[in-house]
Amino acid sequence: MPSASITGWGKCLPPAVLSNDDLATFLDTSDDWVATRTGIRERRISHVSLGELAAVAAKRALACAGLEGVDIDLIVFGSTTYDDQCPNQASGLQRAIGAEGCAAMDVNTACTSFLYGLSTATAMLRTGVARNALVVGAELISPFMDWSDRDVAVLFGDGAAAVVLQAGDADDGLQLEKLGCYGESREILRIHGIGGAYINQGRNLGDTRWQFEGQEIFKKAVHGMSQACEDVLARAGLAPGDVDLVVPHQANLRIIESVAKRAGVPMERVYVNVQRYGNMSAATVPVALCEALEEGRIGAGARLLMPAFGGGLTFCAHLVRWGERTTPLATSDAALPPCERSALQIVRAIIEAKGKRS
Ligand code: UT7
Repeated sequence: MPSASITGWGKCLPPAVLSNDDLATFLDTSDDWVATRTGIRERRISHVSLGELAAVAAKRALACAGLEGVDIDLIVFGSTTYDDQCPNQASGLQRAIGAEGCAAMDVNTACTSFLYGLSTATAMLRTGVARNALVVGAELISPFMDWSDRDVAVLFGDGAAAVVLQAGDADDGLQLEKLGCYGESREILRIHGIGGAYINQGRNLGDTRWQFEGQEIFKKAVHGMSQACEDVLARAGLAPGDVDLVVPHQANLRIIESVAKRAGVPMERVYVNVQRYGNMSAATVPVALCEALEEGRIGAGARLLMPAFGGGLTFCAHLVRWGERTTPLATSDAALPPCERSALQIVRAIIEAKGKRS
């Protein structure tokens, strides 16, 4: 059975930065509260669509692998905040990168969507359905946010990243994973106002309200990720000391610290960038992976453990063996158009548009 080596990686973060102090200009919150409770200092707000963010990340990942769009025969797009319900997001990416005719599917398991997508694509490479896959984790959360709700508005941000998988006979790539979901807890994280329950029924489609039980999510997240880590390490016959780097979902520094403690891995071997980006949902793990590589935190043959959780309430942990190469084969000149507005101006425009509708 072929393996699915990760041979390319690329990220795209929109340039506009929204600080905690910016949030405090229109919400009853403070930099001190947000930083102390979550570790988050700032997040990015996008001036372009999800499709545009993902296309830049994908082109960078392709260059890194030394491939072109035509070489890709499978796209798996992980997200919860698609530009459209139909057609799907992966088909738009297919056009943007010139991967004409390839299989193109979306995966939505909220914040775990990239990792569920990694499982899906790896399985399809192992069974010979595809040979070169692009797996994306990307989110444009800012238009879905209820910017009047301080419980959630301080936590999230926009961003995108992608990896290229190539079938081969090297023994690297995804080794083992645990996927799960606490369906009985699906009501603790729900975004009201989007989807078939609202559209064409006289309700205010697009005026989102978040049902969000932070402390319950916190507990379930720590439990699910810890169990999943334990499961994959036991099945792989590995001890916590065998893990070179944990690259976890970045939702809250306190959640990451709790999971690391339960897994028995010291924080020196855990990659954290939640302070810069907040929770970018499906994009957090692939962006963290890209940055860990850029910073030289991942060496040849490294063992990586990637735990995550998300709405549903889905949870998972993936054990990845890195290959020999830790630097890109080439770089892409793909870039976003310039951003003329500040992050605060973009957010204020969303708030004003919502105010006009209601
Ligand atoms: O991918 C899924 C994403 N979901 C998550 O990551 C959520 C996981 N949960 C968490 O990260 C934490 O539970 C939160 C960061 C959401 C909240 O932290 P907490 O330590 O559980 O705070 P809390 O909900 O117990 O709130 C403590 C106080 C409350 O005031 P009182 O009742 O003690 O007077 C809140 O009203 O903090 C207040 N509060 C805020 N204050 C300033 C809540 N949000 C804010 C805010 N700024 N943004």
